[in-house]
Amino acid sequence: MKYSRLISLAATLCTVTLMAGHAGPATKSVDIDLTQWTPPDIAAVTDDPFGKLVNYGYALFTDTANELGPTVTDPVRRFAGNNLSCQNCHLKGGSQPYAMPLMGAWGQFPRYRAREGAVDILEDRINGCMERSMNGRALALASREMKAFSSYVRWLSLGIPDGAKLVGAGTLRIREPARAADLGHGAQVFSQTCAACHGANGLGQRAQTGAGYRFPPLWGPDSYNNGAGMSRLLTAAAYARHNMPIGTTYAAPLLTDEEAYDVAAYIIGQQRPEKANLDEDFPIRLQKPIDTPYGPYADGFSLEQHKFGPFGPIRAKVLELAATSQTPRAGGSDNGSGDSDRAQ
Ligand code: HEC
Ligand code: HEC
Repeated sequence: MKYSRLISLAATLCTVTLMAGHAGPATKSVDIDLTQWTPPDIAAVTDDPFGKLVNYGYALFTDTANELGPTVTDPVRRFAGNNLSCQNCHLKGGSQPYAMPLMGAWGQFPRYRAREGAVDILEDRINGCMERSMNGRALALASREMKAFSSYVRWLSLGIPDGAKLVGAGTLRIREPARAADLGHGAQVFSQTCAACHGANGLGQRAQTGAGYRFPPLWGPDSYNNGAGMSRLLTAAAYARHNMPIGTTYAAPLLTDEEAYDVAAYIIGQQRPEKANLDEDFPIRLQKPIDTPYGPYADGFSLEQHKFGPFGPIRAKVLELAATSQTPRAGGSDNGSGDSDRAQ
């Protein structure tokens, strides 16, 4: 086993760090390359209490609409506000590299997050996706559902040392064109490369049975809301280029950087549910990702430019203001474990 040596090395490093009296995840831990990592097999999960929670978590993750969606019979269980599943974005049960995989995510929390301006535990982060990507409401910390989600992430992370620097986490950035996105070109890319599955109207195609989707919507009333990570242009472009059309991986992208940039802008330019109180996000305004599609901003650039670029001038200004005011972590991408601030 190639990784057993890495793991014992990591364990040694962790011990050394702990002995040196540092709190929290080790900062100089080993890299774990998720693109080479074999995810655990759900079929091998046993029927003990932890295994039961893992299996339930897997069901919630892959069949969210039928488990927690807006049409489930028991109104108390209607936590998600749309009929997406977690897996619609976190592909292959959260194991696809650069599709925000959750392998190793267990050991990355607690962690400072700019969006909250506070230290998040894993459960806060799961609720972040519940309230935004699923356009729904938070699960109670002590609920069986939340325990199932966190047990599932724990199980996906088995063998990966806490605080490891993860390669293949989050999304893989595109080389960003030094121009505003071209919505006309984006529309063209969409109809040629995406519409066959997601529909010419972007509303997706429902599953043959049950509440979920065969092809999820990319906008409209049953999509993620404007506070979700996927509603930022650079995140959506990175995701689309390295994962879409479905079956594509980062290793052989189909879209060019330019196509991904423009088609992501086209998607972001459409209507979707709006989250309330978004002005409370990123209380330290210079830590707001530059492509956040809602204000207020600290840099004086327009909403339009924050949505559609060009981003270079905004980034330069944010870094300049951050240097003057000595604000750490300015203008980060806030993109999951692959985020550079994860390793700090
Ligand atoms: C061959 C069918 C197919 C094509 C073509 C395709 N997708 Fe997808 N897409 C899917 C499926 C299926 C999923 C959900 C994956 C899952 O649940 O396992 C998905 C998920 C997504 C998601 C995340 C979920 C959501 O609702 O937002 C985005 C974003 C996305 N696709 C964008 C695109 C873009 C942009 C294109 C064109 C460049 C595209 N897709 C082309 C099948 C396709
Ligand atoms: C519309 C796409 C989408 C859906 C659906 C979605 N997520 Fe996410 N999730 C993201 C994105 C994008 C990120 C990366 C951070 C960001 O930019 O917000 C993320 C990040 C996360 C993280 C943090 C990962 C890390 O490495 O730090 C967790 C945990 C998570 N999601 C759990 C869930 C769960 C559980 C569900 C279902 C209840 C879910 N997500 C549904 C898009 C989605």
